[in-house]
Amino acid sequence: MANGGDTSKITRDYFDSLLLEMRHIDAVKPTTETVIYGEKFSSPIMTAALSHLDKVRPNGTVLMAQGAYASKSAMWIGMGDEEELEAIIETGAKTIKIIKPYADNDVILKKIEHAEKSGALAVGIDIDHAFGSISEWDYILGLRMSPKSFDEIKSFVNATKLPFIIKGVLSLQDALKCLEAGVNGIVVSHHHGMVDYALPPLMILPKIAKAVGGKFPIFVDCCFERGLDVFKALALGATAVSVGRALMKPLKDDGADGVQKYIEEMKHELQWAMAVTCSKNPSSIDPTILWNK
Ligand SMILES: Cc1cc2nc3c(=O)[nH]c(=O)nc-3n(C[C@H](O)[C@H](O)[C@H](O)COP(=O)(O)O)c2cc1C
Repeated sequence: MANGGDTSKITRDYFDSLLLEMRHIDAVKPTTETVIYGEKFSSPIMTAALSHLDKVRPNGTVLMAQGAYASKSAMWIGMGDEEELEAIIETGAKTIKIIKPYADNDVILKKIEHAEKSGALAVGIDIDHAFGSISEWDYILGLRMSPKSFDEIKSFVNATKLPFIIKGVLSLQDALKCLEAGVNGIVVSHHHGMVDYALPPLMILPKIAKAVGGKFPIFVDCCFERGLDVFKALALGATAVSVGRALMKPLKDDGADGVQKYIEEMKHELQWAMAVTCSKNPSSIDPTILWNK
């Protein structure tokens, strides 16, 4: 077996199979500035919806948020309690909260309400976490997860004034359902390899982007490590991308400074790739710059 079903390796290999042509005539100095839900960020590079960061480094979640704030990036956060979300928002970082797909929708609705009251930028659910690895319902801290229906998703959208995001879209079918349900954003993701042989998000991204037609932002995560990865995602239709595991070491070693530095290095490489391809801003990267190996 070439890859042994290792989704992360397949995803990494797909990034590396995409090559850039160069365009120099009429080049301009590019800007990476990106507006998401009315907020301006210095680049389309954001943290991923992570959890348990205090195991990486004491106070890890708040340090991650401080790093996001210092780099003028959007902060995403996954599972965690109300105090944690409030502490993150207190850092000044514009924060997107992703809630688990609890079987009990009242738990979800309470968390949506809390995110709204606390001043989150947006809120959503990672719909891809209903099943555990043995095709039984997953349980997190004793609470059962469940798949969400089209009608349930619509009810979450209608329950909040915040933009509502579905994380874990890896098919055109789900993207179209999200569109019809009135969601305000999706994250194209396989959740760091929820299943072996999952599609690399960038492989399906152009199809999804075409169907969405700019009606809401498309976020992408999984295996982003450098600015060139971000460039490729933007060229294929992403609005912005999230970085998860690649930020763990900088967070562990250098806390908020490490997170800031890593994001800024990615941004500089993105800007450089844009400069040598006549790409003046993140939303105007011509997909024909990319070639397949
Ligand atoms: C330690 C850890 C905790 C995570 N916790 C969550 C979570 O609570 N909610 C969620 O939606 N995704 C969670 N994720 C998944 C990430 O948001 C992301 O989809 C995934 O890690 C892929 O990005 P990456 O390859 O850059 O890490 C977690 C990932 C890691 C590594």
